[in-house]
Amino acid sequence: MKLIMAKDYQEMSNKAADVIINQVKEKPNTVLGLATGGTVIGMYEALIQDHQKNNTSYKEVHSVNLDEYVGLEYTNQQSYHYYMNDQLFSHIDIQADNVIIPNGLAENIDAACQEYEKAIAELGGVDLQILGIGQNGHIAFNEPGTSFDSITHKVELTESTRNANMRYFDSIDEVPTHAMTMGISTILKSKQILLLASGKSKAEAIYNFINGEVHESNPASALKNHPNVTIIADEEALSLVE
Ligand code: F6R
Repeated sequence: MKLIMAKDYQEMSNKAADVIINQVKEKPNTVLGLATGGTVIGMYEALIQDHQKNNTSYKEVHSVNLDEYVGLEYTNQQSYHYYMNDQLFSHIDIQADNVIIPNGLAENIDAACQEYEKAIAELGGVDLQILGIGQNGHIAFNEPGTSFDSITHKVELTESTRNANMRYFDSIDEVPTHAMTMGISTILKSKQILLLASGKSKAEAIYNFINGEVHESNPASALKNHPNVTIIADEEALSLVE
């Protein structure tokens, strides 16, 4: 596991964007695994700036997203479909047909999960997966206790995750109760993983990840079983690590 320290959110974002840009330049038909949330917004901004300035092209890139809420229309600003279009896809030259995000509107969510897992495999797997980390160590929507063998599945969101995500909704009642998420084993199949963390609120999760044992009570700890993981974290997120 490689640790790259950044001064602050901006530096973390720039360094993460550089990893993606180099990957896409080296392999133009890269399969990128993408995340939503606050941590990655600065990285997406840096990618857009680079695309505008240096013409880095995403025409041959495929992307797969980690997760999506169940039951939110894609026009809903809190859906991850909306987020990805708004924060990244509409600003770069990625082709709409090359983008896949879990279908939280599917009539049969379990079947949609299986199809998603199959679609990733048909792409040849993820080359570079970007991850944020939850305060409780979750990765994607895999909450503590999730089996390390899990594949794409439907989850009931915990109280703490719904509360953390409430900041984006008008009230807790509007926060969906379920989501579709890549499983931990799906994530571990990625060839390379980049975990990002910024700010004091992530310090404990990063401390537990680095110093704690590999155990299903800490989903992020599964990454320690992967041969190619890089963490980019800023000073605040690393403040509890000696
Ligand atoms: C998002 C995702 C989540 C977030 C995590 C951190 O697609 O899968 O696991 O990465 O909740 O969220 P932020 O970045 O908002 O702190």
